[in-house]
Amino acid sequence: MLRRPRRNRKTEVIRSAVRENAVQVENLIMPLFLVGGSNVNEVVKSLPIASRMSEDNCLKEIESGLKFGLNKFIMFPAIPEALKDSVASHSYHPDNFYLKVAANIKRNFGNDVCLISDVAMDPYSSDGHDGYVENGEIINDVTLPILAEMALAQAQAGFDILGPSDMMDGRIGAIRTKLDEADYYNTSIMSYTAKYASCFYGPFRDALDSAPKSGDKKTYQMDPANKKEALIEAELDEMEGADFMMVKPALHYLDIIHILKESTNLPISAYHVSGECALLIAAAQNGWIDYHKAIDETLLSIKRAGADLIITYFAKEWAERRMI
Ligand code: PBG
Repeated sequence: MLRRPRRNRKTEVIRSAVRENAVQVENLIMPLFLVGGSNVNEVVKSLPIASRMSEDNCLKEIESGLKFGLNKFIMFPAIPEALKDSVASHSYHPDNFYLKVAANIKRNFGNDVCLISDVAMDPYSSDGHDGYVENGEIINDVTLPILAEMALAQAQAGFDILGPSDMMDGRIGAIRTKLDEADYYNTSIMSYTAKYASCFYGPFRDALDSAPKSGDKKTYQMDPANKKEALIEAELDEMEGADFMMVKPALHYLDIIHILKESTNLPISAYHVSGECALLIAAAQNGWIDYHKAIDETLLSIKRAGADLIITYFAKEWAERRMI
């Protein structure tokens, strides 16, 4: 035999010399669930590595993440039912604690921390949908100015990157125009370019109490059967001014990460979503898989598929383990 691929696998030194991909802490983004009050740290039952935290604990979490080199955080608010309405007006209200906490984080940590927002109506919507609902229908063009208003308030609060997760048509353009008109041309947009109508968002909706009150999200989130449609979304996001493109979920959509990476020059991020993380935790709790090895292989597979950035609930744990 002239060719023996096993020669390049014979020792760990050689294996590491020819290794094609590696996950680095710089690639990771940690999600945080923010609630009002103080000294709150409620573990999410269906996702026991994540907690709903009040501002004080969020600040501590960020501080300890920074010690391990973890410096990118994506923040999601849990809003009391009484503050929700059909037009998500609390999302840009000056009293919105999410905006205040973001401003405080940026005041405390400056540019040592990169803070990413969530632009979508669902945490603030009495209908639990990402768009404005009329007679059971999600009205795209009524939603756009609401998202733009929310985005501007988040830019003013100091978020570094805005993350529109709603999947309305034309929202990147609407948000970019609104930001630029107000001179927030340095605020970036990480578009949820290909966000699928997935069953793997369950624990997230438990954490934020944000499940739709009726119907599902299939008229705006993408059909899991579709791949080319992701390229249409990508083309539009690029034209409309996105700075990053996201694929969500990550693990069950590695092929989508791959084709987007091949077809754009923008950085790609992938959201390793709550249900995908929960699968690993549950299997490890049963002793069916090795927890750390499963996490490492999972994150590596997302990286290898082409993701530059990975949003994962394991980010902090992973970063901490790397240090010890
Ligand atoms: C909604 C939003 C969802 C997630 C992030 N933003 C859920 C949904 O679309 O219903 C899910 C993330 C996860 O499951 O970890 N704007």
